[in-house]
Amino acid sequence: MTEKPILRVLAGEALWPPPIWLMRQAGRYLPEYRAARAEAADLLGAFTTPDLATEITLQPIRRYGMDAAILYSDILILPWALGHGLRFEEGVGPVLPRLDGQAGVAALDRGGFADRVAPVLETVRRTAAALRRDYPATTLIGFAGAPFTVACYMIEGGGSREHAEVRRLAYADPALFAALMDVLIETTIDYLAWQAEAGAEVLMLFDSWAGVLPPPLFAAHVTAPAARVAAALRKRAPGVRLIGFPRLAGSLLAGYARTAGLDAVGMDTATDPLWAAAAVPDGVAVQGNLDPIAVVAGGEAMHAAALAVRDALRGRPHIFNLGHGIVPQTPPAHVGALVDLVRAV
Ligand code: CP3
Repeated sequence: MTEKPILRVLAGEALWPPPIWLMRQAGRYLPEYRAARAEAADLLGAFTTPDLATEITLQPIRRYGMDAAILYSDILILPWALGHGLRFEEGVGPVLPRLDGQAGVAALDRGGFADRVAPVLETVRRTAAALRRDYPATTLIGFAGAPFTVACYMIEGGGSREHAEVRRLAYADPALFAALMDVLIETTIDYLAWQAEAGAEVLMLFDSWAGVLPPPLFAAHVTAPAARVAAALRKRAPGVRLIGFPRLAGSLLAGYARTAGLDAVGMDTATDPLWAAAAVPDGVAVQGNLDPIAVVAGGEAMHAAALAVRDALRGRPHIFNLGHGIVPQTPPAHVGALVDLVRAV
């Protein structure tokens, strides 16, 4: 039925060599990215200009022939589209207003959400058309931040080391926390279903801060929301494939993979692929998990580390990727060498 390698793996087939794409593959390490980005006034402008975002999404496909293109957007587009506000500060990262309790949840503008995400959906449509035309074996991946990670940025007002305020709130005011999570879960379902309608074949949930939670809160705020999103998408976008990435989940990745109802789970850099191969149920593919810094180093060290990941998962449905996003100081030639060596058998 389907020929695309990534879709074959997500349907449960073990391919050798495994297909490959890299998180943050469209980004600042590429000179063509920096040139394209300079055309937009700011990062939000780049994410919401369909021509430019389509071009940036396709850059790593053109340069390396990756097996997947991932939509050039950001997980924080969702709170922005709910009217919560967002700016990206050079050298600081994303800055958002801190959520103002129940009033802040009530103020989220669900009525304006569809209009604000329209340019992103247009990027999905244009990218899907370009891939059909020029790269018919390349899979288009859409994504959203998982509700917990998006809540982290909204509650902390940006990035954070400990996420102490998010965790405090989850203990101290579970009703408020649940109210925020409900809005995020429901709007994430809409947003992902719309991406599937626009041509995304795979949808990925990035839960970058899942690993700050103890097991009971992880079950409630990471696994359960992923299961709700997955169940709703199975109905609204039948046929779409789902990947969840609860970063730094450690041993909790096993329960997440068993119960969330996804087609694949991402492994972060600290996960032992041999452990994951045994702990993740057979029907769930795994994705990952080369250390992004090994790609900065390149050479023999990258070679050995990449083949160790690839070979550990031989015989299992596996999509080769990094354990976290590619970093800006990565030499583009090292990425090309990585793709070649993963594909060489
Ligand atoms: O993977 C891809 O190529 C697709 C696009 C993508 C971006 N962000 C583009 C981006 C994806 C999937 C994301 C996800 C994202 N964004 C996550 C989850 C994954 C992770 O990294 O843990 C998170 C936590 C964010 C929030 C975010 N966006 C941060 C913390 C930053 C600033 C950090 C930095 O590197 O400066 C961003 C900005 C951002 N999003 C960039 C890109 C390419 C940097 C862009 C630029 O300055 O031009």
